[in-house]
Amino acid sequence: MYYYKLIFLQLIFSFTNGYHTKLSNGNIYDISTQKTGIQDNSTESIEKIKINIKVYYETHCPASVTFFRTQLRPVVEKLGSYLDVHLIPYGHARTLKVRGRYHFRCQHGPEECYGNKLHACTVDALQNNTRAVMFNACLMQFSGYRSENNNAFILSMCGYILNLPINDISECINSERSSLLLKGYGEETRLLRPKYVPYVIIEDPAYGQFQLTNDLKATVCRIFHQVPPPCSRI
Ligand SMILES: *[C@@H]1O[C@H](CO)[C@@H](O)[C@H](O)[C@H]1NC(C)=O
Ligand SMILES: *[C@@H]1O[C@H](CO)[C@@H](O)[C@H](O)[C@H]1NC(C)=O
Repeated sequence: MYYYKLIFLQLIFSFTNGYHTKLSNGNIYDISTQKTGIQDNSTESIEKIKINIKVYYETHCPASVTFFRTQLRPVVEKLGSYLDVHLIPYGHARTLKVRGRYHFRCQHGPEECYGNKLHACTVDALQNNTRAVMFNACLMQFSGYRSENNNAFILSMCGYILNLPINDISECINSERSSLLLKGYGEETRLLRPKYVPYVIIEDPAYGQFQLTNDLKATVCRIFHQVPPPCSRI
């Protein structure tokens, strides 16, 4: 069955250029995950409908934690494949360079600097924004803004819950790489200088911070030109 389906799709794609976009609507995921060698532009079309979201936050800030729990995670859970979420875990931290190495001072203390680095490492190691949001939401859920030193345990637990490898994240957090990543997020944050966090940037400037941080799903769903199915389900 599967084999014939592939042949069928291959035939359609080789002979009917005109129907290309129409077909790819329903089959975007199927086709792009099969290694058929078909020259199709379906991945391009989903890239086009993706909405870019930038989230400036700091890991131990109660408002950022609440935003992840009540807004960002539920939205990414439902609409992840239609969004490109760029996390910027830095907030009101400061970067210091001492004898060639980077150090940080964070609003909620050293635990927050560690948390920010951990989130930066997750984004870097997982190389998938949807997964990184889910993973970082998990880290926040279990560490919250308490300061107990149980980070390694929480990291393993989230890896287990989400069934994702944590080797690369552990390696990153225990190396200079985590500092370099956080320094980069510091530079990115300074370009915007948000007065408070979480601060959300979305491509349509018609929506303000109140709407974005209190009703992210409805706001995002209003922006899509072609409204994806999860927007109509409650
Ligand atoms: C698909 O992409 C290729 C390469 O970017 C381009 O030359 C071609 O015109 C595209 N085809 C369609 C149907 O958009
Ligand atoms: C990213 O992760 C999500 C959730 O696990 C998955 O559905 C998606 O296919 C992944 N994307 C890529 C490009 O691997």
